[in-house]
Amino acid sequence: MEQAMLHDFVPTAIIDRAALRHNLAQVRIVAPNSKIWAVVKADAYGHGAFEISKAITPDGLAVARFSEAQSLRAAGEQRPILIMGGVYTESDLQAAIDLDCEIAVHNIAQAHILKNFHTDKTIRIWLKVNTGMNRLGFAHFEAAPWLQELSHYPAIRGHPGLMTHLANADDLFDPTTTQQCQRIQAIPGANKCRLSIGNSAGLLGWEAARTDWVRPGLMLYGLSPFQDEIGAQRNLIPVMNLCAPLISVYQCKAGAAIGYSGTYVCPETMPVGVIGIGYGDGYPRHAQTGTPILLAGQRVPLIGRVSMDMISVDLRGVPKIPPIGTEALLWGQELPTEEIASCANTIVYQLVTGITNRVQRIYIN
Ligand SMILES: Cc1ncc(COP(=O)(O)O)c(C=O)c1O
Repeated sequence: MEQAMLHDFVPTAIIDRAALRHNLAQVRIVAPNSKIWAVVKADAYGHGAFEISKAITPDGLAVARFSEAQSLRAAGEQRPILIMGGVYTESDLQAAIDLDCEIAVHNIAQAHILKNFHTDKTIRIWLKVNTGMNRLGFAHFEAAPWLQELSHYPAIRGHPGLMTHLANADDLFDPTTTQQCQRIQAIPGANKCRLSIGNSAGLLGWEAARTDWVRPGLMLYGLSPFQDEIGAQRNLIPVMNLCAPLISVYQCKAGAAIGYSGTYVCPETMPVGVIGIGYGDGYPRHAQTGTPILLAGQRVPLIGRVSMDMISVDLRGVPKIPPIGTEALLWGQELPTEEIASCANTIVYQLVTGITNRVQRIYIN
């Protein structure tokens, strides 16, 4: 992306729809026989759920919570929606039925709500199976009797799907994933059910996880779920380019301490730039001194603590100091988000989902 001048001096997330479509096409190449639930929970990982959904043509959309499905329907979304966390009350079940959503059923309380529910309309469900994540779901060895039990519930339409979530798919040497895939496939009656296993790491790294339905999130946004790897290595293109303006430049004297707690002390008299983005916008508070920022086509290091609205950068390596208003890139197509996550000792998921409403989103392509 070209360096440009920002006119309104606020941080901007430039969301590249062409990159998004490219990444969805990669899912289809890797898992050609699978249908795709595009995971757009958490406001499409901070990219804007409605805009993202509109820009792509998956087989359905998956969210975590009922309220997320409700917002998508309220915005006019008509394609299948899966609520991966299911519903917890009768009124939400009724509303999910009215909104024609599919739901996961992951515990006995949810099953009981369904059991006692009588309505003229019905709902498609996915029995969520715990195959090793040990978070949500019915134990894999109890799934068959539950399939049997659910077949008597009047509110359920058709045969339930079976879904499971992978715990360690990002580690290609960990045998847990193979075991999880085998456990769900081995459930008596599984061959009659729609099966959904793979998230991004699952479908990219494990053939057995490329089941009837896959549920990619992160890779749609162009980021790699694997350690020490960036999206480009999987032929993915980052969708979010996070930019912010240079808002001040000044000469700091040798020995001057920069920002809160003075954690960075200038080793010599040097030019320091201030960029208008901080943890109040979702830039990670724990990004360390040295975290790269792209300014006027050049990498400059962050210095000192991240403040709520701004960060400081060392401009010594920049031969021609750019004018105030010049747009800096915090992460995106020319500065891997994965690299920034590692400098901040966090994961890319947290970076992109953490972008706050103060950041304007601009959709291109
Ligand atoms: C149940 C479930 N399926 C799929 C996904 C998508 O995962 P990823 O973003 O790693 O592709 C998630 C995300 O956490 C999830 O919770």
